[in-house]
Amino acid sequence: MSTLIVESPCRLQGTVNISCAKNAILPIIAATLLTEDRCRLEDIAALEDVKVMIEVVNSLGAETNLDGANTLEITAKKIERNEASYELIRKMRASFLIMGPMLARTGKVKISLPGGCAIGSRPIDLHLKGFAAMGANITLGHGYIEAYADRLKGESIYLDFPSVGATENIMMAAALAEGVTTIENAAEEPEIVDLANFLNKMGARVKGAGTDTIKVEGVRELKGAAHSAIPDRIEAGTFMVAAAATRGDVLIEGVVPEHVKPITAKLKEMGAEVNEYEKSIRVNATERLKSVDIKTMPYPGFPTDMQSPMMTAMCVAKGTSVITETVFENRFMHISELKLMGAKIKVDGRSAIVEGVERLSGAKVRATDLRAGAALIIAGLCSDGPTEISDVYHIDRGYINIEEKMKGLGASIIRV
Ligand code: EPU
Repeated sequence: MSTLIVESPCRLQGTVNISCAKNAILPIIAATLLTEDRCRLEDIAALEDVKVMIEVVNSLGAETNLDGANTLEITAKKIERNEASYELIRKMRASFLIMGPMLARTGKVKISLPGGCAIGSRPIDLHLKGFAAMGANITLGHGYIEAYADRLKGESIYLDFPSVGATENIMMAAALAEGVTTIENAAEEPEIVDLANFLNKMGARVKGAGTDTIKVEGVRELKGAAHSAIPDRIEAGTFMVAAAATRGDVLIEGVVPEHVKPITAKLKEMGAEVNEYEKSIRVNATERLKSVDIKTMPYPGFPTDMQSPMMTAMCVAKGTSVITETVFENRFMHISELKLMGAKIKVDGRSAIVEGVERLSGAKVRATDLRAGAALIIAGLCSDGPTEISDVYHIDRGYINIEEKMKGLGASIIRV
């Protein structure tokens, strides 16, 4: 299993290009199951999670072709299996996003329950309530969910929480349902808008994506479409925070500045200079950052996926910062690793109180999840002495070529 060794300290400088968003491309791959025609996804990043999603649609009978230029073609002419196994769902929770498309296309799906994960218990009750409201007959047993529906019926669905996955799953199911589905208190993330755009290219009738009320008028069938997903706002945010925390000067290209507004706002509050251009952002910090308080929230609030990278910046900022995690109940696993590196953090319920230190100290640490891994790379760049990060496979799930991109900015990172 590979390890990343981060030599330090380092001031990041230069230009980095952002890849396509993992959390946009995963539901879009699931959505290709809604049509028997060929779909073409351009400029995708062949991340580990993307490869798992390809494996999932292959296992159901889709034909896929990923060429060297990062173009993925998917043709789900026939759905040969209706079951997504425990092994596939265990590899990646987002595999659960096939439930809506499968139910809508074939009227039948058997799928393993995803179970909890490193960042929380992550129930799927909102997805299931939505499908049940649309007429699906759902049974649970032996760790599997089975669902049947002749044809789903449009309904008015109110989500208790604006869940990203539930909004996407219900939106995809509704695309082929009979009548109009209204999703209220829907998630407003840019990835939802991107999925709606893809569905509409396929011939769906989705309106209101990006607001808290989405209306989907079901159609009889969808056709193939070509699409290029939005840039990864979390990858962009990670480089923005890394630039600021290392007192660097980095131009982040291929980003939608609007999507990273909450990160821009907080970095400015911490004293970094952030300049927005049409499709790029420059982050420049000459002084040590100042402390700041942050609460994670659904979009357009501060993203939970940026909580751990931002916590690293707080660890080396001047003063005491408080970061409160409201989206996931257990997303503080990185704290014990940051403490190994000399961070001063106390946990009080869902809040972490971070007392900044001048510098962290390199240590052997473990990436406990994807974003925690990114936080540790940034911590390594702000330390005295080398940092050795194990369980790097978590990082590879969501960051393409992270060490190459960091090296391009002057960091010394090797994979062993
Ligand atoms: N929730 C429920 N019931 C449900 C669904 C969600 O209670 O039926 C709760 C969850 O337990 C959690 C909260 O609602 O406490 C938010 O979960 P949500 O459904 O919005 O998250 P998700 O769809 O499972 C996506 C991203 C995550 C990101 C979250 C929040 C994908 C593939 N994953 O997960 O990304 O953190 O939205 O923005 O889109 C990551 O990339 O590292 C990552 C974890």
